[in-house]
Amino acid sequence: MKKILVLVGSNRKESINRKFAEALEKLADGRLEFEYFDLAALPMYNDDDVAEYPASAQKLKDSVAAADGILIVTPEHNRSIPAILKNAIDWASRPWGQNSWTGKATAVVGSSPGAMGAIAAQIHLRSIMVSLGATLMTSPEVYLQMKPGLVDENNDIANEDTRAFLSGFVDRLSAWVGVAQERAAA
Ligand code: FNR
Repeated sequence: MKKILVLVGSNRKESINRKFAEALEKLADGRLEFEYFDLAALPMYNDDDVAEYPASAQKLKDSVAAADGILIVTPEHNRSIPAILKNAIDWASRPWGQNSWTGKATAVVGSSPGAMGAIAAQIHLRSIMVSLGATLMTSPEVYLQMKPGLVDENNDIANEDTRAFLSGFVDRLSAWVGVAQERAAA
């Protein structure tokens, strides 16, 4: 089964983005295997530490390398991505010349309690990942407004239309892994 490394840009216990990721994982059951990386394990990026990479940052680079695809689930903090997520992206982009994101099948989604569904954060994130050479899945775009009860205690999506739309997203992500691998080989 294709392995997807999931980066959730929140370390909050009750994170709605973590919940959203778990709902996608359930929709992908039998199609994709999700592995979550704990972004809180990473120290704050410091270029002085690059010569001797911190173990957690090396683990992130190894996890990115081992994954068939990356799914980033971002909250929005002050109209951009949370610092914890940017920190992880920066770590895996280094050392110079060993950017882990190059050619990686990458998809971006996000959620907010507000109607805009983390759109500003996702636009920034897309721009960052393109600049790093990730093979970014451009559509469908997913700006999820997380309303109470939308994802239940079993991680099922209550709304039928939303469930069908997100199932289509999972299909596309699964296919995108193959597209990125073909591009990397070309
Ligand atoms: C927010 N939140 C927020 N929401 C939004 O839609 N646009 C924004 O610009 C911001 N800005 C913002 C800044 C900071 C510092 C915090 C802590 C929060 C609200 C945010 O969407 C909400 O807290 C979500 O619950 C965050 O996602 P997680 O942590 O639950 O996954």
